[in-house]
Amino acid sequence: MARVTSSDALGPDALAGLRPRLPSPLEEAVDARFERHGVRLLLKRDDLVHPELVGNKWRKLAPNLAAAGGRTVVTFGGAYSNHLRATAAAGRLLGLRTVGVVRGEELADRPLNPSLARCAADGMRLHFVARSVYRRKTDPETLAAVLRAADAEDAYVVPEGGSNAAAVRGCVELGRELAGAADAVAVACGTGGTLAGLAAGLAGSARTLGIPVLKGGFLTADIRALQTEAFGGPRGEWSLDERFHHGGYARVPADLEAFAADFEQRHGVPVERIYVAKLLHALVALAGEGAFPRGSTVAAVITGRPSP
Ligand SMILES: Cc1ncc(COP(=O)(O)O)c(C=O)c1O
Repeated sequence: MARVTSSDALGPDALAGLRPRLPSPLEEAVDARFERHGVRLLLKRDDLVHPELVGNKWRKLAPNLAAAGGRTVVTFGGAYSNHLRATAAAGRLLGLRTVGVVRGEELADRPLNPSLARCAADGMRLHFVARSVYRRKTDPETLAAVLRAADAEDAYVVPEGGSNAAAVRGCVELGRELAGAADAVAVACGTGGTLAGLAAGLAGSARTLGIPVLKGGFLTADIRALQTEAFGGPRGEWSLDERFHHGGYARVPADLEAFAADFEQRHGVPVERIYVAKLLHALVALAGEGAFPRGSTVAAVITGRPSP
């Protein structure tokens, strides 16, 4: 893949040079578990947008990379963060300096795990911080101290998970691409940034259903706050179903693993386990409960791909 070197500013041309596949394909998945309830299932293949900036990573990072304007990009994550990986890859592809602030000071003295090794190989400078500091990273004084210690005081800061107002606005296009294609659009939620933008882009043409993969029940308020930050107030018609986290973040019990492997076999679509498997499992369960009216179409956003 061609590497695009940035000068001082990184314009839309540099990002276009990475040739994202947009709009992403929308495919029908013929599946008896939906058909028997008179429901059509569509898969919005955001996993095919870009080989390295996959799915919602592209949608959320692209506007932030443009806003960084060539400055070093600093972001935050745990030792297995997909968001750190994607930011590091973007840095390599676009010739941007990146710094990853990693949760867990103790990791600094251990060999890098494969995910962090990949970040480092992509040129990301890793800065490990204590968990107590990491927890307070959005407090302005703590953030300033972390940036100082990481020698990145003038950097452009992207929050953990990549969800800020720019990212939310980047996900609006996903909703626009789907407008008119379905009655309901479903997406897995971590921070809720993708849903916040998606629902705005659908602009009432379909209802948006979010499936949180974390336990907690805090996401409704977070999504409202993200929409207010991005658009000045609530947008779209959306709701969350909190029943499908399977025990919490990154928990993949055997029945979910079996479900995901079976879905891959039936439809030839790679199923990312931490988010997408929970989404698809929820949709099968909801169809079984009669949650979607006969004759309706449901689109599932495939926001990621299993990591190699
Ligand atoms: C594959 C995948 N799907 C969905 C999400 C959730 O996105 P959000 O944090 O915007 O809710 C993530 C998190 O980054 C993800 O990696």
